[in-house]
Amino acid sequence: MIRISDMTLAFAGDRGPTTVLKDFSLTIDKGEFVAVVGASGVGKSTLLRVIAGLVRAQSGTVDTDQPPTPGRRPYALVFQDARLLPWRRVVRNVEFGLEGLGLDAGAKRRRALDVLALVGLADKADRWPHQLSGGQRQRVAIARALAVDPDLLMMDEPFGALDAITRQTLQDELVDLWQRTGKTILFVTHDIDEAVYLADRVVLLAGSPAGVRSEDCIALPRPRLRDHAEARATAAAIRTRLSDYVEQGAGI
Ligand SMILES: Nc1ncnc2c1ncn2[C@@H]1O[C@H](COP(=O)(O)OP(=O)(O)OP(=O)(O)O)[C@@H](O)[C@H]1O
Ligand SMILES: [Mg+2]
Repeated sequence: MIRISDMTLAFAGDRGPTTVLKDFSLTIDKGEFVAVVGASGVGKSTLLRVIAGLVRAQSGTVDTDQPPTPGRRPYALVFQDARLLPWRRVVRNVEFGLEGLGLDAGAKRRRALDVLALVGLADKADRWPHQLSGGQRQRVAIARALAVDPDLLMMDEPFGALDAITRQTLQDELVDLWQRTGKTILFVTHDIDEAVYLADRVVLLAGSPAGVRSEDCIALPRPRLRDHAEARATAAAIRTRLSDYVEQGAGI
């Protein structure tokens, strides 16, 4: 279980600090797939960056009930672009994520090849990033995140830059991966249909500073249909709520 408690985060600015998150709390069960949606600029990426320790909150805590384990990291983050190092082959890009964990070269290589197999890229380990498609590069980024065996895998609009067909393929692969690994996932998207298709629970962020305005449990069986009436109705309800918040001037 991951528990974010009473998180407050403000960025310094020319005209004083801007508070993005205030007294923000969210609990995610082990193995749960949670999607976060909200207007542009509301604080979705900031939330993930705080959890990942890339920015420091003024107050609040992020806890996992897993004991710290050598060779692992509690949190891993996948971005919209794969952010691969062009001068490293695919397998070496995945190994890059393992630096500082105290693993020897052989252990790193085994770990990297295992996660590349998980994302279906075992045969691309020796390629250079420029020899991959956009979807394959994003799979490498997912492999690099999984390599540290995180308690929480966080994804920030990971499929936002892909074409519609590749996006659907990767969505289905992600659900499959999640079911096979039992990982806990926190997935940010501005695409409410994507959130409802993928997640067990959809959290709507709105307001300035941002807070959780609603949570919808998506109890539909898997594998899911892309055009399920109940899913469509839930997505429409979330969309209406979101635009109400934006109209009130509270969304951005
Ligand atoms: N390093 C920073 N310094 C100052 N302000 C920042 C910084 N990073 C983000 N912000 C501000 O914090 C707010 C939230 O930004 P964030 O990137 O989290 O939004 P978002 O919900 O991810 O938006 P989008 O959907 O467009 O990606 C915005 O107002 C943004 O301008
Ligand atoms: Mg963002």
